[in-house]
Parts: sequence; C-alpha cells; structure tokens
Amino acid sequence: MDSQPKLRVLFSRQEIAATVSRLATEISQDYHDKYPLLISILKGSFMFLADLIRHLDFPLEVDFIGLASYGKGRHTSGKIKVVQSLRSPIKDREVLVIEDIVDTGLTTAFCLDYLRQKKPASLKLCVLTDKPSRRQVPVTIDYLGFTVPNKFLVGYGLDWDEKFRNLPDICFIEDED
Ligand code: PRP
Repeated sequence: MDSQPKLRVLFSRQEIAATVSRLATEISQDYHDKYPLLISILKGSFMFLADLIRHLDFPLEVDFIGLASYGKGRHTSGKIKVVQSLRSPIKDREVLVIEDIVDTGLTTAFCLDYLRQKKPASLKLCVLTDKPSRRQVPVTIDYLGFTVPNKFLVGYGLDWDEKFRNLPDICFIEDED
C-alpha cells in the first residue's frame, strides 16, 4: 500500500445522515425515558456519536472508552487493550455502547465483557457499520446502520493508519492490482 491509496465512496454523507437519523429514531423509542449513558468507543466512533446524539431529544449522558488493538495498519492483532478509562460509574445505568464498525468482533466483544463486569442495569450495542464476513467472535448488534462488504473502510471516523478519519463520506480503499 502506498502513501496515497485510491478511495471510493461507499456511503455518501447524505446516506450516512439518513441512517443516523433512522437509528436515532429507534434509540429514542427505547431510551427516551431511561436516562441512558452512551459510551463511545474511541477513537473511531467519535463522529458517529456526535451526529447521533444531536438527534436524541431526551436526557442522556455521554462517556468515552479508549480501546485499541495492538499493531497498526490494515490488520488487527487480536489483542485489545484499554487505553483510556471510563470516567462514569456504570453500575445500575442503562448503557448503550456506540461503535463505528464491527469487523472481527474482538474489540466489541472485549468491550461488552469489560462493561458487563461493572453491572450496568442494561447493556446494548449500536453500530454504524457491520462487516459480518470477517467475524471471529459472535456479537449481538441491537441497532445497526449498514452491513458492509469485506473492504477496508475509511472516513467518518474510520482510519487507515490514523489517516482519513476526517472524510465526511465512508469510503473504501481500492485493492491494488
Ligand atoms: C477499529 C474500529 C473498531 C474495531 C473493529 O478500532 O474503530 O473499534 O477496529 O475491529 P474488530 O471488530 O476487528 O475488533 P481500532 O482498534 O482500529 O482503533 P480506533 O477506533 O482508534 O481506530
């Protein structure tokens, strides 16, 4: 992979906005009277969270957890570590985890196990993009934006080696031939 990979749009900013709005409607129906704590998994989900909560017209709180897999580039090592801790106690809270992508499932599965040990009242998962073809461990997604093909995605928070998070569309890196 050279330093300037070719990008193609998979989901435009308009398609993303419509999907985020649809997810917000679903979440509002379930959480409008529950004062939930939304936990965004950093870094990738920051943009999704920011757009999503602007549609949620009811009391809620936000917290962040930093998780990362060892290693850089296109391939995860499979080992997950907490690189930034939660600030909020979550015991007895209605917790909704916000994630940008489920790929192998290792990050999300680790996160849900980690949070479940802290005994929240409930624990659900909202994911913008799901790549089921890559799954290594099962993950139950309660609110899903897009099912995506097995391509390397960047933009709208998603990175390639820390680059391209700022793109407003979700793009994929074209394979080199
Ligand atoms: C990415 C993405 C998810 C995870 C999904 O995070 O944001 O958290 O990979 O992959 P998995 O299902 O195979 O575990 P990454 O570890 O690259 O960190 P980042 O969010 O800071 O980009």
